[in-house]
Amino acid sequence: MGFLGIIEELFHEYKSKQNAVVGVVVEPIQSEGGDVHGSSKFFQNLQKLTKQNGAALLIDEVQTGLGATGKFWAHEHFNLPESPDIVTYAKKFQTAGYFAKAEYQPKQPYRIFNTWMGEPAKLLILDAILETVNQENLIENTRKVGDILLNGLKDLNRQYPHLILNVRGRGTFCAFDMPDALVRDKFLAQMRNAGIQIGGCGNVTIRFRPALVFAEKHAYIVLDKISEVAKRM
Ligand SMILES: Cc1ncc(COP(=O)(O)O)c(C=O)c1O
Repeated sequence: MGFLGIIEELFHEYKSKQNAVVGVVVEPIQSEGGDVHGSSKFFQNLQKLTKQNGAALLIDEVQTGLGATGKFWAHEHFNLPESPDIVTYAKKFQTAGYFAKAEYQPKQPYRIFNTWMGEPAKLLILDAILETVNQENLIENTRKVGDILLNGLKDLNRQYPHLILNVRGRGTFCAFDMPDALVRDKFLAQMRNAGIQIGGCGNVTIRFRPALVFAEKHAYIVLDKISEVAKRM
């Protein structure tokens, strides 16, 4: 059974327990889980399914938001017939928050209010960041550099097919798998020793999360270092 089938069964299961599902939370690219991508069709059908079941669709853009995938929001890649009901954001946005359609907004102010609410002054920093992103065309930059990074990783997959597997990505939000966790962790350590700070996610995945100013020249440095390290492993 596909993932949508499983989700549909869960809707039925909870309904039969008189405990209807109020919403579905999904990342456009499942990040900590190992950079798992879903197709546009999957997300379009997921939106249809949530609507049929009267549940909200919340898209978590905490890692993917603000340009990393080559669009401002990663869910813009999916051509959804309408906006998600709720979108959450944080990290690059300096402050955490959410957008919601009118029907999902709390009726009273400060219904969600606590010590983690953040610092309003961060919005001034965010304003400057957004201005810079626009002025310096950083999302377009991410798209172009992302193509170079992804194609370079695909070349490395052809060169080291026993080591660099399942290359994938959107914009500079790229990833590949390694044969197992031990090899992945050794590779990460050797990349750090070679001067490249890079991260892992899931059990066997290497993930790229460069800043929006990551340029063509940086992509070539990283690709060369990956090749150097892979050759030694
Ligand atoms: C995709 C995603 N959503 C949300 C969060 C943050 O969640 P919380 O603020 O509850 O720790 C993270 C943190 O890394 C994340 O990666």
